[in-house]
Amino acid sequence: MSWALCIWVSLLVTSITTWVYKWRNPKCSGKLPPGSMGLPLLGETIAFFKPYSNLDIQPFIKERIKKYGPIFKTSFVGIPVIVATDPDFSYFVLNQEGQCFKNWYPDTFTKIFGNQNLATLHGFVYKHLKHMILSLFGHESRKKMLPEIEENVCKKLKLWSTQNSVELKGSTASLILDLTTKKLMGLDQGKYSDKLRDCFAAFNDGLISFPINIPGTAYHKCLEGRERAMKMLRDMLQERRENPRENPSDFFDYVIEELKKEDTLLTEEIALDLMFVLIFTSFETTSYSLTLAIKFLSDDPSILKSLTEEHEAILRNREDANSGLTWKEYKSMTYTLQFINETARLANLAIGIFRKALVDTEYEGYIIPAGWTVMVCPPAIHLNPDIYEDPLVFDPSRWEGSKYTNASKTFMAFGGGMRFCIGTDFSKLQMAVFLHSLVTKYKWEEISGGNIRRTPGLHFPNGYHVKLKKKEI
Ligand code: HEM
Ligand SMILES: *[C@@H]1O[C@H](CO)[C@@H](O)[C@H](O)[C@H]1NC(C)=O
Ligand SMILES: *[C@@H]1O[C@H](CO)[C@@H](O)[C@H](O)[C@H]1NC(C)=O
Repeated sequence: MSWALCIWVSLLVTSITTWVYKWRNPKCSGKLPPGSMGLPLLGETIAFFKPYSNLDIQPFIKERIKKYGPIFKTSFVGIPVIVATDPDFSYFVLNQEGQCFKNWYPDTFTKIFGNQNLATLHGFVYKHLKHMILSLFGHESRKKMLPEIEENVCKKLKLWSTQNSVELKGSTASLILDLTTKKLMGLDQGKYSDKLRDCFAAFNDGLISFPINIPGTAYHKCLEGRERAMKMLRDMLQERRENPRENPSDFFDYVIEELKKEDTLLTEEIALDLMFVLIFTSFETTSYSLTLAIKFLSDDPSILKSLTEEHEAILRNREDANSGLTWKEYKSMTYTLQFINETARLANLAIGIFRKALVDTEYEGYIIPAGWTVMVCPPAIHLNPDIYEDPLVFDPSRWEGSKYTNASKTFMAFGGGMRFCIGTDFSKLQMAVFLHSLVTKYKWEEISGGNIRRTPGLHFPNGYHVKLKKKEI
């Protein structure tokens, strides 16, 4: 080997080693939390996305908590990340919105949801939009929707009971999509919603996936779906503009009115992005929760019995058993709401809540450097045996007497702080009404599927097929 080549190779080795060393030991004004940054560029991404098949904390997180403690550093696709699995630190991060930390989502999220969705909007525009959404899904609005939800649920359940088998994840998603599109766009059942749902179909897989945009990847399908869905929404908005309605009542009416104003901050692009996010989150989250809820009921007859008793009592206490569900009755569903909380605790639909540090922030002797991402990890809190005894056991009665009053510290299924989920109560209402009709009028038999896979997001890889039968009264 020539002498020159020797030098060249040794230089190369030195510079790679330095690069790797620097990557693994990032600059910091104080002490960083323990943990490994993995490989340059790739970080520990592959280990993070490794699938598993139960409801426990993902092995990636579990192993690192054991090794490093509840706060550790890592890196995903080249982004340095501090993982928060401790209730106090998580609470601290979520309640510092706009101060030490701000809402931030991985590139995959922003590409799919658009750059102008609620998660990335700040300041004034954000407040303005949030107000509008709150009024669409707020208390008064939900009260008005209750009969509509019940009517839809009853119709769907009746239809499903005539079929040999229903796949619950897809069917509940289409039910909820109908409800949401009606609320947002005044669409009547089925007309556009089937088409829209097709566009959204590949979404959940691609959302927290490896961001490689080449044909065949989950991420690529996601982006394609978005294109098609956005085009549909754009066409619908245009159609409505050409045929304005007498009594403005839904999101499109609002957008059209707002866009007419001279000094508005709203643009068509922002409105469509927002619409897209709302439609997607509303049906994808609630349908997973409902499917898992029904699985829990199939697995434990005693819980099904308690739930059924609560709802049969509601019917018994009515003057006219055939009258619709009232708001007061909904509010009286104590066990059902515990059941829904318990489902959310174990479903862990939000596997991570992301924030970015705006300034170097000190916490318990560690420095979170400015620019780093913090991932609050709700599953680690919901499945922590020091907080929830026997955390993997599904037991709604553990919510009795509000032991978990420091709600935002020990229960983060819907986030916390300023960015707390706007759809929480909307989702709970839909679930409660669905469960009410289901357990009072129907019974079911499992046919196939129902097995769980986490990637780390929740999936039912084989769906969940059941045969629904009307109860004889
Ligand atoms: C089981 C159902 C649901 C779960 C588990 C869930 C979970 C979450 C979580 C964890 C956050 C916080 C994100 C963050 O802090 O970065 C959030 C925010 C949000 N959710 Fe939900 N969600 C659910 C249902 C819904 C529904 C039905 C809607 C639509 C009406 C909705 C709309 C939103 C919006 C707009 C935000 C952003 C709020 C903000 O940034 O201020 N969610 N959700
Ligand atoms: C609940 O949170 C408050 C405020 O963070 C704290 O002062 C209090 O000690 C907490 N209570 C319990 C029982 O953890
Ligand atoms: C469900 O959880 C929320 C948030 O922790 C809590 O405020 C509420 O009291 C719980 N509901 C029931 C019925 O336990």
